[in-house]
Formats: sequence, structure tokens, C-alpha cells
Amino acid sequence: MKSEKPTVKSSETPEEEKLFVSLRASHWSEFRGQEKVKQSLHVALSAAKKRKETLEHVLLYGPPGLGKTTLAHLIAREMGVNIRVTSGPAIERSGDLASILTNLEPGDVLFIDEIHRLNKVVEETLYPAMEDFALDIVIGKGPSARTLRLDLPKFTIVGATTRIGLMSAPLRDRFGIVQRLNFYSPQELEHIIENAAKKLKITLVSQAKRALSERARGTPRIALKLLKRSRDFAQVKELEHINEEILNEAFSLLEIDHMGLDDSDRRLLKNLIEKHGGGPVGIETLAASLSEDIGTLEEVIEPYLMQIGFLKRTPRGRQATEKAYQHFRIPIPKKSSQESLI
Ligand SMILES: Nc1ncnc2c1ncn2[C@@H]1O[C@H](COP(=O)(O)OP(=O)(O)OP(=O)(O)O)[C@@H](O)[C@H]1O
Ligand SMILES: [Mg+2]
Repeated sequence: MKSEKPTVKSSETPEEEKLFVSLRASHWSEFRGQEKVKQSLHVALSAAKKRKETLEHVLLYGPPGLGKTTLAHLIAREMGVNIRVTSGPAIERSGDLASILTNLEPGDVLFIDEIHRLNKVVEETLYPAMEDFALDIVIGKGPSARTLRLDLPKFTIVGATTRIGLMSAPLRDRFGIVQRLNFYSPQELEHIIENAAKKLKITLVSQAKRALSERARGTPRIALKLLKRSRDFAQVKELEHINEEILNEAFSLLEIDHMGLDDSDRRLLKNLIEKHGGGPVGIETLAASLSEDIGTLEEVIEPYLMQIGFLKRTPRGRQATEKAYQHFRIPIPKKSSQESLI
């Protein structure tokens, strides 16, 4: 069973979802950071435009809330084409995929979110569609079955996933452009917060802006969520500006500490430290003792903990670092030199 507590990483309320869509960068100039990703996309986009061709298929991966969906929309806008949005679990049968693909117009972008969740049969139908822009349809059953090849207009698939490890190699290999999104620096997040605050007509004192950017786990979506929560607090208190006090109330409501860690981060680290002596411990054991799914640990919770140097993946398993012990004010245990902490 998973932790029932709402965390900043849990999904949005419908109201928040609407807010995020309204705050979505509608132009490259509003999409901060991810310079390497933007550069590769710009080269591919301008080459495709020059050759008047469709863009190669693009796969975007990385932890939640870093801008994959936003980039898919920006790509479609840049190519001047429509975007059709779907997701891995929404395409249940090959027929569903066929109806989506045959309804595309030449050059369109088909955005497939959570692409790692496509089922095998649908995935195999997708291969010739991605490679040759054709659908192989089987007509009839048994020995009299025939395959009919249906030509499709050329299109671009933009796939997004937080779990690239779960994608099959043949599917991954069919993407010409594969880009990983990384966490944002506090400075980049400050710009994102500033921009969103302007759109929402919110003012923040500069310390509040900094505090917000430092506790947002390197993630724009979390920064925006925190901004929205603190705006609610400020409104209730009839304050014109968001200050640090208001921010702290929002942080404490969401159980976010001064490093930006939330409940699920703390559970993982504390479990590792208190139940497994700080590790190293295998991911399976850790997942079982947290009643969490391995994938969620590996691709949603751990990346940020490793980024801030609280967790280390070693060949013998996960290990809590000295920094993690210090964060929880837990004395560092004496270990043999071979097992010494990192
Ligand atoms: N680089 C950026 N600059 C400005 N705003 C950003 C940036 N990246 C993301 N955002 C904002 O953060 C919010 C979340 O981004 P988005 O939905 O694109 O993330 P995602 O990677 O698709 O997340 P998930 O994996 O959960 O689907 C959006 O409101 C978006 O506008
Ligand atoms: Mg998304």
C-alpha cells in the first residue's frame, strides 16, 4: 500500500491542473533552462523546417513536472502543426491507435504521454507506423488471414516518460531524438516563479522568491504549486505581497522542509537510516519495507535525493550519505572502513 498523504509530487486538483495549463510556456522565450535540450531541438526543428520535412520522432524523459508536456506543445507550435494528445494507457487496442493515426493531418504531432505504458500489441502496431508511416492491418482469422498495408500521412511522435527504464529497446530506438530533462537550478526556478507571478498578478518579496526556488525540488511544477498555495494564504490574510512567513505556512501545510524534502523523501531516507543502518541495501528490500513501487522510488523519488547528495546508488545497493544523517540530526554510526559512508 502506498502512503496516502498528499505530497507535492502527487497529482493536481482539477483547479491546479487548469492553472498549470494557463501558466504553460507558450513561447520558447518563456521556457527557462534545459539549454542542451532546447539547443538540440532547435537544430532539429530548423533543419526539418528548411527541408520542409516532418520532424523526427522525439522522446523526452525525466522526473515529473520538468516540462515534457510543455515542450511537446512548443514543438508543435514551432512546426506550425496541430498537436493530438494521448497517453500510453489510453490506447488500449491497436484499433484505437489506428483511428488516431488515420485521423492525423500531414506533419501533425502526436503526443503520447506515459509512453512506457503502451501495451505490447499496440506497441508493435506502432513500429511500422513510426518507421514507414504505414499500418499493417490483419483482416480475417486463421489460415485465411491477410495483412493489408495502409499508408499514413507523415507525422511526428513526441513521447514522454518518467520511466525510460521500462521502455522496450525497439521502441526507444525508433526515436531519432532522445532527450533527458534535468532538474532546474534555483536561479532558473526564480525566473520561472517571477514569470508566473506576473501572469497571476502576485508580488513576492525577494527573500520569498529565493526561499521558494530553493525548496521546489528543482521542479517548476512544484514551484508553481507552492506559489499558488502561498497566494491563497496571502489572500486569506489580506496581504498584498507574499512574504517568507506566508511561504512557511504553505510549506508546513505541504510538509516540505527547508531542503524541499516532502513526506515521501523523508520516509525513504529515514527507513534507509533507521531500518537498514544507512545501507547499502538493495532497492527491492527498500521498496518492500516502504510498501512502495520500485519504479516510483527509482524514477520519481531518488533522482532528486541523489542530486542534492543525500543518497548514493552503489553496486551493493542504496546508501544514505553523511549529509542525509546530518539533515535528520541522526548521529553517524561507526562503520568499518570498507563500509564507511560517502
Ligand atoms: N522550463 C520551464 N520554464 C517555464 N515553465 C516551465 C518549465 N518547465 C515546466 N514549466 C511549467 O511547469 C508546469 C509543469 O510542466 P509540464 O506539465 O510540462 O511537466 P511534465 O514534465 O510534463 O510533467 P509530468 O511528467 O508530470 O507529466 C507547467 O505549468 C509548465 O508551464
Ligand atoms: Mg506531462
